Amino acid sequence: MDEFKSKLNHKKFEEQGSVSAVCPSNIALIKYWGKREIQIPMNPSLSFTLNKSRTETELKFKPNPTNDFSLKVFFEGNHQPDFEPKIYSFFKRIEDFVPFLKDFEFEIHTSNTFPHSSGIASSASGMGALALCLTEIENLLGADLNADQKLKKASFLARLGSGSACRSVYPGVTVWGKTDSVSGSSDLYAIPYPYKIHPIFKNFRDTVVLIEEGQKSVSSTAGHDLMNDHPYAEKRFESAEENLKKLIPVLKNGDLETFGTIVEHEALSLHAMMMTSHPYYILMKPDTMKLIENIWTFRKQTSVPVFFTLDAGANVHVLFPENQSEKVSQFLKEKAGNHKMIEDFTG
Ligand code: PMV
Repeated sequence: MDEFKSKLNHKKFEEQGSVSAVCPSNIALIKYWGKREIQIPMNPSLSFTLNKSRTETELKFKPNPTNDFSLKVFFEGNHQPDFEPKIYSFFKRIEDFVPFLKDFEFEIHTSNTFPHSSGIASSASGMGALALCLTEIENLLGADLNADQKLKKASFLARLGSGSACRSVYPGVTVWGKTDSVSGSSDLYAIPYPYKIHPIFKNFRDTVVLIEEGQKSVSSTAGHDLMNDHPYAEKRFESAEENLKKLIPVLKNGDLETFGTIVEHEALSLHAMMMTSHPYYILMKPDTMKLIENIWTFRKQTSVPVFFTLDAGANVHVLFPENQSEKVSQFLKEKAGNHKMIEDFTG
């Protein structure tokens, strides 16, 4: 991990200024579920970074007269003290790698392009944007990280804020978690997917149908913890590895049928883990199930390649190639009820 220690000479920095960064959300096709200290995934994951669902962050800094962390978070223009404990913990975790954190008073001004409490997790895009801002400041202070080093460090830092955030730092397809299937993969940071991707996956659509808006009943943090004593954990970690391995040729050859089988199996495996934890819980809602059934029926009747995945919540991510947009959009108009939708895509 010495690679991520700062090259800055440690002194008390006196500068002031402001930096900003934008970072999108991502949707995992191979799910990260279960971790060990500190933010090390129990299995590799692979995701599509989205485009429209983004966090925009401005980080203002000025000399800090105290010897402790000092920060204030503003969300969409309003001071948001309840967001601050999470950032304090993040700062504590990354202090060894970001030596100037106590030198400055920080103001974090952040906003999302997706609706607040839409059920889309903003932790990935939020932590990603903040990590990018910190590497920007590191360079302003003279660290001289080149573009690749900067992204790698931002991914490393973002992981310590929220695991899946490390994947959001890169566009397109990314992989996080050490696996023999992907060369260069690491538990400490995500990497851009290094193999061939079939053009059918270019601008691949992810229309998020917002089945439930607002806070989830069980957080992802609690869900990851429940994997520690989970009766099926080992099998699940193996299965994620296998699914990732199977996905590599599919991403290359564009076999959408197999793509759908792997991706939907992953989504349901994630929720099966929730349903078989001690204590067990269910995050899917009746409308989640209804839409999944409708997707299956529509696909069978029309042969339109449209699939679903789920994150740790009730919302349905509807995945399909760009060239099927019209048909799927018509289908969703009819079958997604009154639920709001966010029409996003990768890249
Ligand atoms: O990064 P976290 O702790 O919010 O966990 C994310 C877990 C899933 O979204 C369910 C899967 C994933 O790989 O993103």
